[in-house]
Amino acid sequence: MHEIEMKPSPKVSIEFDGQTLQANKGETVAAALLRQTHLAFRTTPVTGKSRGPFCMMGVCFDCLVEIDGAPNRQACMTYVEDGMRVKRQLGAGDTGVFLSDEEDTQ
Ligand code: FES
Repeated sequence: MHEIEMKPSPKVSIEFDGQTLQANKGETVAAALLRQTHLAFRTTPVTGKSRGPFCMMGVCFDCLVEIDGAPNRQACMTYVEDGMRVKRQLGAGDTGVFLSDEEDTQ
């Protein structure tokens, strides 16, 4: 039987809403935040409901965050980098996109 050797991952520091967190080099922003029990990554543009990662493969867009000042970045598709500043995204970011109430509840 083979034994699996677990080596500690090199760490990087990221900031989430002003709080410094340790992340494993090579993991995504979504994985780093979920591991530290941050579940709400954004709010919806119309009702302000909280959303968090669902698919973890770039399909649902429920993981949108602001990274280093750029809105609408998919946390599940973005790897952490040392010094990265991540913020919870409130609404639609600065895209000017407006969703109807019907679209917002899906
Ligand atoms: S979790 Fe679905 S796109 Fe990121």
